Amino acid sequence: MSHLYVHLPFCAHRCGYCDFVTAVGREDQHASYVDALLRELDEERHHLGAEVDTIFLGGGTPTFTALPELARLLNQLPPAREVTVEANPETVTRELAQALHAAGATRVSLGAQTFQPHLLRTLERAATPADVTRGFAHLRDAGFDNLSLDLIYGIPGQTPAQLAADLAYALALQPEHISAYELEAKPGTRFTIVHGDELARQAEQMEDYFERVVATLTAAGYRWYETANFCRDGKRSEHNLGYWLGHDYLGLGVGAVSTLGHERRRNTPKLARYLRGDYRREIEQLDDETRARERVMLGLRLDEPLPLAGLRHALDPAGLARIEQLGLVERGDETLALTPRGRFLGGAVTAELLA
Ligand SMILES: C[S@@+](CC[C@H](N)C(=O)[O-])C[C@H]1O[C@@H](n2cnc3c(N)ncnc32)[C@H](O)[C@@H]1O
Ligand code: SF4
Repeated sequence: MSHLYVHLPFCAHRCGYCDFVTAVGREDQHASYVDALLRELDEERHHLGAEVDTIFLGGGTPTFTALPELARLLNQLPPAREVTVEANPETVTRELAQALHAAGATRVSLGAQTFQPHLLRTLERAATPADVTRGFAHLRDAGFDNLSLDLIYGIPGQTPAQLAADLAYALALQPEHISAYELEAKPGTRFTIVHGDELARQAEQMEDYFERVVATLTAAGYRWYETANFCRDGKRSEHNLGYWLGHDYLGLGVGAVSTLGHERRRNTPKLARYLRGDYRREIEQLDDETRARERVMLGLRLDEPLPLAGLRHALDPAGLARIEQLGLVERGDETLALTPRGRFLGGAVTAELLA
């Protein structure tokens, strides 16, 4: 399996809650950034093998990149079965939707986050609900049959009724895939400085919100295939599935992370350096034990049992017995899976299981 991630850092505005590697505006650098990406691809392509299975263009806001540059990039990437582009709804014009489709994108992931005007203001989001509906229609008209929506819940002030309204709005658009994330207080962000205390106060309520998300989306026919991800008609994100299954992937771009065998590396997060081809990579060696622990942590996020071959040494038998007794995990002959209750508790359960 071969997976390629490409990071496009440019955004129109930096949202207060976001800690991804981003750069505001810089329209004069979009062309040189695409040049730098293609140079890095040329240098690193040997990691990818003859065929690439999935490509993911993430950001930042890939669709804020000047359209001719974005299309030039897409046209020069190797062909792949799944090519996802992340998009902010207000950037999706008819022209952009058609250009993405013509350049080989097969899937678009739209960051809606919420459909409540006051919560959109809290998140400093530019896209209105009408932008999401319009963007969706343009993408469908252009021929996309695999669309995803990102939602965030746990926004300060969000009531259960407003969460239900967000889910209903998302479902009415009939996306093939929905990601629903609990709002995370990223250290050092403007949002955390202003709202951090409130997020900490409401933390207990979040399990109930998570359960509401899962109940609503599964009742609507979506498969809860990963902790925060839901799909219809088998349309899982093949790219992210590769990551959860512990496959290697090559990441290109400023701040991009790659996992290649026993090495994890991260490119410099500084745009000026990246543009000069000075990658200043941070390299972490991953021993067998670290990789096995990661396989357990990521693999148990999925709804399919985790094959235990080669992973047993990463588990603590006493912790496993305790968790099993609590009904949070199910053991097969050679597999392990969290029960629905275990999946709601998530990381806390996995931490108990690890040696
Ligand atoms: C890398 S972001 C970029 C996508 C796009 N620029 C946008 O803003 O919609 C991908 C997704 O991560 C999620 N995300 C970003 N920051 C988050 C946070 N602090 N807590 C929870 N989810 C977050 C959002 O749902 C977002 O759509
Ligand atoms: S949330 Fe999206 S649009 Fe906002 S700063 Fe982060 S990457 Fe850019």
